Amino acid sequence: MKIARFSRIGFIMAAAGSAVGLGNIWKFPYIAGEYGGGAFVLVYLLTVLLIGFSIMIAEMLIGYLGRMDTVSSFEELAPVNKHLWKFGGFQSLAGLFIMIFYSVVIGWIFNYIITSLTYLPATPKEAEIVFNSMLHTDFITQFFYHTVAFIWITYVLNKGLKGGIERMNFYLMPALMIILAGMFAYATTLGAFSQAVAFMFAPDWSKITSEAFVTAVGHAFFTLSLGMGAIMTYSASLEKDANLVKNAFWVVFLDTTIAIVAGLMLFTFLYQYGSGPAKGPGLVFISLPAAFYEMGIVGNVFAILFFVALAFAGLTSSVSLVEPMVQYFIDRFSWSRLRASLSMGLFFWFFGIFAILSNIDGAKEYLTWGGKSFFDWVDYVTAAIMLPLGGLIMAVFVGFIIPKSKVESVMKSQLKWAFEPWYFSLRYITPIAMFVVMLSLMGVL
Ligand code: TRP
Repeated sequence: MKIARFSRIGFIMAAAGSAVGLGNIWKFPYIAGEYGGGAFVLVYLLTVLLIGFSIMIAEMLIGYLGRMDTVSSFEELAPVNKHLWKFGGFQSLAGLFIMIFYSVVIGWIFNYIITSLTYLPATPKEAEIVFNSMLHTDFITQFFYHTVAFIWITYVLNKGLKGGIERMNFYLMPALMIILAGMFAYATTLGAFSQAVAFMFAPDWSKITSEAFVTAVGHAFFTLSLGMGAIMTYSASLEKDANLVKNAFWVVFLDTTIAIVAGLMLFTFLYQYGSGPAKGPGLVFISLPAAFYEMGIVGNVFAILFFVALAFAGLTSSVSLVEPMVQYFIDRFSWSRLRASLSMGLFFWFFGIFAILSNIDGAKEYLTWGGKSFFDWVDYVTAAIMLPLGGLIMAVFVGFIIPKSKVESVMKSQLKWAFEPWYFSLRYITPIAMFVVMLSLMGVL
């Protein structure tokens, strides 16, 4: 049973804090770069608008009506076959799985905050050596910072919804926005800014392969935190008279704006001082530090601020990835918050160690299957299979299982004329799109 309720602004901050994460600042720029910019960005934006927004409302509605952990909410709201539908809630396990690599990446970021205090690599080549030697040889550093991330996240979760999650988001989200806004303002004064705009917004349709298309759709899910019950769990603590459409709008708006702003800023720096839109996951860990070096003293300050902002984004998302399972053990098994937070934390901390080892020379041979390391497998299985599957289940659940009259009673007055289009999209457009995405990602198509 829930007693704690988010404040109005607290909910938006927490949900936006969940959505704005490593996906926006680390992943989005490098996949946009990889798939050629403009057209990819357009597909992503359209997916966010046409599918993401309506699933966001659906996920909020399940939490808002269910008022409990994800498993109990599904069970409560299904008129028949409750025991089957409750498995919809076990999607939340995906959050713990994502944390296995998410926490390791936050560890890298902590390490980069500390090292940027005294050192920036002078060339992209040097930056690459620094990153790769951490990744492939330095177990101790990765283990240490991964453990720091685990302690931080578990500590905040243990403080609860209001005293922990809401409070952290209340400070870190504005700080993140201020840092990014300041760096973005600086970027607009540089000559390369227009190049970055052209790269991000001029669509080159020849670059849109089916893989690019599917990646863009999948990313829209990941970046909006959809499909595993993070938004659902937060929504169980919404005030009774909350307007779901307005809340969903703000979350989608902030998440998308921050992704675009971060992308434009990074590409400006890379065009102006670096080697252009670099490809691959090393973008912010390799190409960017070298560009910061070229910027001189401003770059030194920016490097620290940038990695601090990135850490904030990652931490506020992390708590939302773990909270659904914490809530589950509290609601269903009457665990104390401490016991639930610590157990969930220890789970991702333990398996995170193997994610680190799966990149370490000498160990990775034992943790690689079918050309993918354990680290990559976790990323792939969660993003490619679990999240789209979760989105599909939620769309079908709200579209077909919860009685329409119940859905209408909350949503009709909020959506007005848009109610029928929204409902139609949940019933037909979203499930079909999700199904296609899943098949393509699994390599079946
Ligand atoms: N949206 C976050 C990001 O962009 C990641 C994330 C947090 C997430 N909570 C989630 C992804 C729930 C899927 C589901 O980095």
